[in-house]
Amino acid sequence: MPNTNAPAWKALAAHRDQSAGVHLRDLFAADPERFSRFSVGLEGLLVDFSKQRIDAQTLKHLIDLAETARLAEWRDRLFSGDKINFSEKRAVLHPALRNLKLGAFPSVEDDVMPEVRAVRAQMRTFSEKVRGGLWRGFSGEAIRDVVNIGIGGSDLGPKMVVRCLSAYQRAGMRLHFVSNVDSAHMAKLFEMLDPRTTLFVVASKTFSTQETMLNAHTAREWLCAAAGEDCARALPLHFVAVTSDVTRAAAFGLPEANVFKIWDWVGGRYSLWSAVGLPIALSIGMNGFERLLAGAQAMDTHFREAPFEKNLPVLMALIGIWNTNFLGAATSAVLPYHESLRFLPSFLQQLEMESNGKTVGRDGQALSCQANPIVWGEIGSNGQHAFFQLLHQGGWLVPSDFIASAQSDFPLPGHQAPLMANFLAQSAALAFGKTEQEARAELEAAQVPSEQIASLLPHKVFAGNQPSTTIILPRLDPYHLGMLLALYEHKVFVQGVIWGINSFDQWGVELGKQLAGRLLPALTGETGTDGLDQSTRALIAWCREYGDF
Ligand code: F6P
Repeated sequence: MPNTNAPAWKALAAHRDQSAGVHLRDLFAADPERFSRFSVGLEGLLVDFSKQRIDAQTLKHLIDLAETARLAEWRDRLFSGDKINFSEKRAVLHPALRNLKLGAFPSVEDDVMPEVRAVRAQMRTFSEKVRGGLWRGFSGEAIRDVVNIGIGGSDLGPKMVVRCLSAYQRAGMRLHFVSNVDSAHMAKLFEMLDPRTTLFVVASKTFSTQETMLNAHTAREWLCAAAGEDCARALPLHFVAVTSDVTRAAAFGLPEANVFKIWDWVGGRYSLWSAVGLPIALSIGMNGFERLLAGAQAMDTHFREAPFEKNLPVLMALIGIWNTNFLGAATSAVLPYHESLRFLPSFLQQLEMESNGKTVGRDGQALSCQANPIVWGEIGSNGQHAFFQLLHQGGWLVPSDFIASAQSDFPLPGHQAPLMANFLAQSAALAFGKTEQEARAELEAAQVPSEQIASLLPHKVFAGNQPSTTIILPRLDPYHLGMLLALYEHKVFVQGVIWGINSFDQWGVELGKQLAGRLLPALTGETGTDGLDQSTRALIAWCREYGDF
């Protein structure tokens, strides 16, 4: 349970009340050292918290709160392989997947590294063969297109990383991601693919997710239609699986050699570091994939060793809690000023909301406070010309993360400076706003007649005080991307500890799945609709009238 009765929680509430009315403008004016006090640089990654509505006292109370929640102990339990995902009786060992050191992890007794290294070696051999044109399809041709079939954590992570690192992609190798059970997703792809040169990666930890299995079966039929009598021989040349269920993969027709194993201690939304990252290795090569792991490992080390005051995931998590639980923010925006980070907001939505979107604590009791805010986001440049109006003048408190890299991946003359100017301008405008006095002075300088000034003035004022964190990478390379993603993962972990949540289960997605299972035969007419609610019965009737099932 979050200890909302703890002195640290109460001190934060009192501190919030005392500092009501203090504007970010005041905080900056009062402290010429504010930027250096509230920013942390780590191996070229800069995180600036100075535009958050915090001061030294806020941080002190937040760190007290982390200590009250016994954060250091929980962190040790994570890294020592304790079964902290207690509702599924599982350890949470994604840090093992990016452990590149020699030796055992998490301990000599429970060492998972031999099997992790074995799968890494299997990924290396396979990806080198495919990338080198040595892995041949049923017609003897090399692979040109790779289609990852997966959903949720078996899609969002690798899809996002492949997009992020497209500047490092091997020319001539195209990566595609199919997740939607809507046949439009697969059908449109088939139009541009050649079965002789296409490789499917079926990624599903359980190998039973409806959307993924249906898409995988459709892809298998498409391949077999082309391979004809050669179908049985073609299947292992064009399909591999990433799963923890080798038996189900075998039932699909795949020999063990085509199966890349993951383990029950890898959560779906934390799995891109495992063989779920195979499309990443196929896209940028295994050396590039290991640079991604190395960056994440550097963040693991920082998270384990840095004092809370300078610990990036801890600070990010605590400031998020301040915004949600004390300032009352219901949402949090992710605003990348980087085209290659296009899929980061959806990845973070799953990471944060599937982990901490809960109202029941580890002890089974209702939480005494709200947990995760609603995470959303969009490429910043595009958002500026769409929804930023609301951030500036809509009156909602919307904390945001501004993310960019100093260098462009695909430089064209004259683009990077305007991109970065907008990136820096927006967080400053949101923080400091424009006072009535400033707005009036501008209108007067533009020689606007005084009667018009009076009517325009209310529209020209920006309240500001909108908090944001700015994150700058030197470049969106595999190493710094690994750091960035592990930073968010550990932030989610820290918040889960403070809210008293098990961040590693997701029972909330089950009800809809069960209901879909019941409604499927009703839609196809195999069963009636008795017992269903009135709305669903009427909707099924409507769908059956106009649809074709
Ligand atoms: O339904 C939610 C979920 O279980 C996610 O947690 C997971 O990432 C996704 O489905 C896909 O699961 P799988 O990899 O087993 O197909």
